[in-house]
Order: sequence, then structure tokens, then C-alpha cells
Amino acid sequence: MKVLVTGGLGFIGSHTVVELQNVGFEVVIIDDLSNSSEEVLNGITSITGKTPIFEKLDLKEKSKVEDFFKKYDDIEGVIHFAASKAVGESVELPLLYYENNIGTLVYILKELSKKDKAGFIFSSSCTVYGQADKMPITEDAPVKSAESPYGNTKQVGEEIIRDTCKVTPSLQAIALRYFNPMGAHPSAKIGELPIGVPQNLVPFITQTGVGLREKLSVFGDDYPTKDGTCVRDYIHVVDLAKAHVVALQRLLEGKNKENYEVFNVGTGTGSTVLEVINSFEKVSGKKLNYQIVDRREGDITAAYADTAKANNELGWKAESTLDEAMKSAWDWEVKVRS
Ligand code: WQD
Repeated sequence: MKVLVTGGLGFIGSHTVVELQNVGFEVVIIDDLSNSSEEVLNGITSITGKTPIFEKLDLKEKSKVEDFFKKYDDIEGVIHFAASKAVGESVELPLLYYENNIGTLVYILKELSKKDKAGFIFSSSCTVYGQADKMPITEDAPVKSAESPYGNTKQVGEEIIRDTCKVTPSLQAIALRYFNPMGAHPSAKIGELPIGVPQNLVPFITQTGVGLREKLSVFGDDYPTKDGTCVRDYIHVVDLAKAHVVALQRLLEGKNKENYEVFNVGTGTGSTVLEVINSFEKVSGKKLNYQIVDRREGDITAAYADTAKANNELGWKAESTLDEAMKSAWDWEVKVRS
């Protein structure tokens, strides 16, 4: 069974390719290498022994997308990761985000709509909930107006898929709303490769731990939480990757109840920033250099998933603890810097 993974050389994409290959899928990757490198192909191959087909392609070029689907007319499913994802950058460059995240989605859906049958998995985000009123967050929590163009591209992306599925019975789709992905494959052969100064907490912690960064700034400890720092649901990237495989299999085996479904993908456990720092210190045996600074504009106080729907309907559950995920992140950082 041949599946397309767009953004398949990226952080979550590469881990998903490994899990797809592990259960026998033949994988074709499209990546424009704007935020990844072809080196990742070697990492995937060294883990699974199989090299995915790789096409370097800019999905913003409509004719290239059309040509691709003519060439690979036996693709039965698509997992669509390719998108820009820096919240701050999206505020500065909204049109880049709308073109890259929405335009490309439309081109892919147009091609899939021509097929007799197609499964489509969309990389969405808990960011669509904004600051939810109730914890843990269920899939029917209201979608709030986005805090950034990036977040808006996820909300609008979901609506585009929903509207397309309504009039395209041959298209079966699932949106996976990720919480906070972290960690790396236990082999330490693939992992997160943030370009420049990491925006996200965990890579900043591990880069500080390995001496690349002088100290971590903790953005505020005056939130209404157990220790004053923000709460998030940190999920191991391998658990997240496996959720994509289960979701795709659900569609290809016709087990979905409607032709557009949404699932939260998290552990169901919230951790504060200080708890994440403690986890790093425990698994690395190193003291982390950090300071408390002012809050970061746009941060919400808390977000963690209600995982009942994913556990009971999708039949998927996160297995790794925060410490196991942090250990994998640290092992990867040490490997990359060695
Ligand atoms: C986590 C916590 C920060 C860095 C973002 C996107 C979201 C999704 C995941 C793509 C917050 C604190 C962080 C630092 C800190 N991405 N922090 N010092 O903001 O929850 O989610 O990434 O889908 O859409 O919004 O993740 O890792 O940036 O922050 O104190 O140097 O760590 O304040 O409380 P976030 P994050």
C-alpha cells in the first residue's frame, strides 16, 4: 500500500515514516527541504532498512502537485505535515503562512478528490482551542478565534477539509490535534533539528543542557497553576507518529464513522514548565541553568488533552512517560552534538 507523507523529512513526519514502514506501508515523501535535510533519509533507512521514495518538491507549485499525482497514481493515502509552524514568524509573515499552509492543502485535496477513494490525515493542533475553558480538553471544546495566523491556518485547514468531505464521499479524512510533541526516536538516529534559536521549550532545555545555550528563560511563574508556570501536555513523538498510522489504517479499512473525524492526540497528563525542567535534571543528571522572566505574549495558562475519544474510538493510547520522552530528547541532543 503506497502512501504519501508531505513534510516527511521533518520532525514528526520522519518519525511517522518510520512507523509506517514498520507496519509495511510503501512511503513516498515530498519535502521542500526548507526546514529539514536529505540527511534524515539516511536516518530513516538506518532504522527500518528501507529507503522511502523522496521527491523534492514545492507544494505551492500547483502544476508540480498535479504532475506528482499523475506519476504516483497508486497512492491510496496522504499524511499531510508540510506547513510552516513558527507561531511568532506567522505574525510577522501572515501571507507566507496562508499561501504555504492553506494553498498547498487545497492543491492536495483537489488531487485526492479526483480519486475513487482516498484517505487523508491532517496535522492539526491543540492551538485551535486557544485557552480552553475546561481541562482536560475534549474534541467538542469550542474552537476559539486563533491567537496567530499559524493557529488560524490550522482552524481554516480543518474547515476546508470538513467542507470538502461533505461533497466528496470518496474522500475520508481525519484531523489530529497534537498537543506538545517532544523527544526523539530511541535509536537517536532521527530527532528534532530546530534551525536557529529554538522557540519550543524542550529543545531549548536540551541545548542548554549540552552547553549550546547559556540559560533557559522560563516565561513567567505567576500563572494560576500548581507552581506558577504554564501547563502543557508533552507527548513523545513516537507515540504521536503511531497515532498517525492507526488513524490512516482506520480510514483505509473503512472503520471511520464519518468521512471527517477529529481526534486529540496527547497523553492526558499536564506538566508545568518546572516539572519538565525537573524531568530533564533527573534523566540527564545535570543541573539546568535557568531564570524566571516575564510571560511570553500569547501563551495560554494550561492545555492538556482528554484522551477518551482517541483511546476508545481510534484505539490508540500514548505509552511513554514524560521522563522517557525527555531521556530520548536528551540522548538525541548528546548524539547530535557529539
Ligand atoms: C511550552 C511552554 C512556554 C520556551 C507551541 C505552538 C503549538 C505547537 C507546540 C505546533 C510554554 C514555555 C517555552 C522557552 C519557556 N506547535 N517556554 N521558555 O507554545 O505550548 O506550543 O508548540 O503545532 O501550536 O504554539 O510550546 O514549547 O513553545 O512552550 O518558558 O524558552 O514552555 O511559555 O508555557 P507551546 P512551547
